[in-house]
Amino acid sequence: MTTLDHATLLQQDSRQLHGLHHPSLHKDPLIVERAEGVWLYGTDGRKVLDGMVGLWNVNIGYGNQELPDVAREQMQKLAYTSGFVGMSNPASIQLAEKLAGFAHPTLNTTYFTSGGSESNETAFKTVYYYWRRMGKPGKVKIISRMNAYHGITIAAASATGVSHYWEMFGLPIANFLHIPDPNDYRYAGDLRAGESVAQAAARALEEAILREGPETVGGFIAEPIQGAGGLVVPGDEYFERVRAICDEYDVLLIADEVITGFGRTGEWFGQHLWNLRPDIMSFAKGVTSGYLPLGGIQVSDAIRDVIVNAPADQSWMHGLTYSGHAAACAVGIRNIEIMQEQKLVENAREMGKRLGAGLNRLRDEFDFVDNVRGRGLLWGIEIVVDRESRKGDKAKAGAIAKAAMQRGLRARPVGAGTIAFAPSLAITAGEVDTIVELLGSAMDAVA
Ligand SMILES: Cc1ncc(COP(=O)(O)O)c(C=O)c1O
Repeated sequence: MTTLDHATLLQQDSRQLHGLHHPSLHKDPLIVERAEGVWLYGTDGRKVLDGMVGLWNVNIGYGNQELPDVAREQMQKLAYTSGFVGMSNPASIQLAEKLAGFAHPTLNTTYFTSGGSESNETAFKTVYYYWRRMGKPGKVKIISRMNAYHGITIAAASATGVSHYWEMFGLPIANFLHIPDPNDYRYAGDLRAGESVAQAAARALEEAILREGPETVGGFIAEPIQGAGGLVVPGDEYFERVRAICDEYDVLLIADEVITGFGRTGEWFGQHLWNLRPDIMSFAKGVTSGYLPLGGIQVSDAIRDVIVNAPADQSWMHGLTYSGHAAACAVGIRNIEIMQEQKLVENAREMGKRLGAGLNRLRDEFDFVDNVRGRGLLWGIEIVVDRESRKGDKAKAGAIAKAAMQRGLRARPVGAGTIAFAPSLAITAGEVDTIVELLGSAMDAVA
């Protein structure tokens, strides 16, 4: 590939559409030519600490020199082959074996995709399939939560609980409905006296199932910690109640672990924070730390049995060209081993405490900062108009993120005025301190 100078790249960048924003906002992009650890290096000479490590996904950090070797070796032998009828490959077999029982002892069977949206599409189709096979074809409604982010393809975007992603596409499609998310700080549902937000938000699920009719509801999808919709950490009782409600009304529970999987929360999976047993788990991002695109779902043994024991004319007719991509799976295997060898999940827990403490110090310092929340290396802080009203200040959050970028820190505003952090799980104490320092300086400038 030819090496071009920054000015030429900037000019030619208009040949691409960039996701999730208006082209007019793409005036001064950081064109990253290389990255190392937590640092991004731009073609214009900028050096930026990536507080969001890509899109919450480069869990082992940038610039690992082993994964390219693994990919090259695998590609030299076999880059790709079909995984359809009568074909498989050693790398996908070994990654599926490694993942069996890794998140939950009942999740032993994997179907690979190339990313999170495809994983959720696969999960929804599996819900429809399962209920048809169980003689309940009417169970086609999927309940998700407001402020959820489940991806951008048609069904995944319909499950996503942010109207901005729907408006210009006529979404959500039929049979996707949204209930309030268990946001302790700003709960949108009805809260009864003496009830916790976790209890009220779980009650909202039961009420929605009863309102729609349990015979029409097939699945409930939830991120263990909501990411792009505003970093919502549920209260401890939430998932216990949700699991019980799903069991009571025969609703399959899909845990969307696309962000929270592979160490991000200081546990291997977000479901481990609350001993949650999903029926289906979606994953992507951290499985390869973004070095190659890969995702997938895992299904419970009960769902697997239904698929495996189906008569030949009722097969699970689902399949993606790149499912089980050999090079991506080989990278996935080594990526997980690296996380294990370098104890990155433990590091996420330790460094997360340090980051949380630093962000709380900023809360003490600035009155427009409130509600610091997170687990492991997944954190959000609220930028508010004032602490009494708790009204999110989106404009100020955007201004802080911009000022942070000018100081060499990438931080992402999400939701109603939340600034999110999800740095590399290999981050050092000094680098955590740099995040807090640069963020503090950005807040000072905006204040
Ligand atoms: C929780 C969650 N689910 C699904 C997705 C969609 O993944 P992808 O962008 O790989 O399609 C994302 C992306 O950020 C996500 O955060």
